[in-house]
Amino acid sequence: MRWIDSLPQRAAQNLPAPVAEYYAQGATAGVTAREAPDSWETYRLRPRVMRNVREISTATSVLGHELATPVLIAPSTLQRQADDAGEAATTRAAARAGSLACITSNSGTRFEVLGALGVPWWVQAYVFRDRGLSAEMLRQARDCGATAVVLTVDTPLPGTKYNAGKAVWDIVPSEHLLVNFDPSLPDEAYVKADDLTFADIGWLREVTGLPVVIKGVLRADDALACVQAGANAIQVSNHGGRQLDLAVHTAHALPEIAEALAGTGAEVYVDGGIRRGEHVMMALALGARAVFVGRPVLWALAAEGEPGVERLLADLTAELALTMKLSGMATIADITPDLVTRP
Ligand SMILES: Cc1cc2nc3c(=O)[nH]c(=O)nc-3n(C[C@H](O)[C@H](O)[C@H](O)COP(=O)(O)O)c2cc1C
Repeated sequence: MRWIDSLPQRAAQNLPAPVAEYYAQGATAGVTAREAPDSWETYRLRPRVMRNVREISTATSVLGHELATPVLIAPSTLQRQADDAGEAATTRAAARAGSLACITSNSGTRFEVLGALGVPWWVQAYVFRDRGLSAEMLRQARDCGATAVVLTVDTPLPGTKYNAGKAVWDIVPSEHLLVNFDPSLPDEAYVKADDLTFADIGWLREVTGLPVVIKGVLRADDALACVQAGANAIQVSNHGGRQLDLAVHTAHALPEIAEALAGTGAEVYVDGGIRRGEHVMMALALGARAVFVGRPVLWALAAEGEPGVERLLADLTAELALTMKLSGMATIADITPDLVTRP
């Protein structure tokens, strides 16, 4: 059996049931979440032949970071439920794999701990209604080594999720939750902004001085508006199907967004249902510069800890390299849209 395919079940054996359920679940009926891996398989490859593929390089860069792989780690909460080292483990594993981790502002690990690792990482932000509070938290992240802010824009409120038994929030110790929030402030202070506009992009750049990635875009017109408002990159995402069920698959939204942003200088990333090297290949051919992986990281962390996360990134990258070799692509730059047939 493929090691990556064994992870969900092995992770579940190591996790309390509400945590395993939380990692896997989607919003409401969970249709978008469930279908996402298959949606990459609605495309087919048109391999090239008679190219020199003796040496394959998966090296690339994102916002100026030189990486050995285009497979990056998506931000997710509750990493310390998978392994006590949580976000520190994923950040370290990413750096060792020549990748990069994006860490949620809802992290269970303090930004200072990540800063002490001495490797680059990105911070994902949910902006609060109180913009001043957000600015303060993001400056802290920047001072602890975050080199970009990833603003999640698909969450004016958390999507509805139904649980078989107890909800995860009933069993997770509070010292593992929201540790970068100011404990002297009441919970209501941290209400998520449901009044975000494109103008917040310029504000975010200004208060942090960091490049801004907008995560959660599914339409070309929105992507273009974000870039015109100052975004450096767009992450095509439906939050792993955890927000709006029946949202379009990222595999299907990606091409129109990549085409709309061609020539703007903005980078395009994608996440959602990426489970195989072939999926990574499809994403790159359809216009993504990099992909982010969410649930498999949590499963790898729960099943095998930090080495598991490193292996996950290495295995997906090795599968990508093999797919490239079989498709006549020696470098990431060789992967062009004509490599894919569209449904
Ligand atoms: C358990 C869990 C927690 C998540 N928490 C966050 C979060 O705090 N912020 C965010 O922007 N996205 C969050 N996401 C969404 C991921 O960043 C990403 O968009 C999604 O997981 C990609 O799909 P995949 O899991 O199929 O790879 C979370 C996803 C999961 C599975």
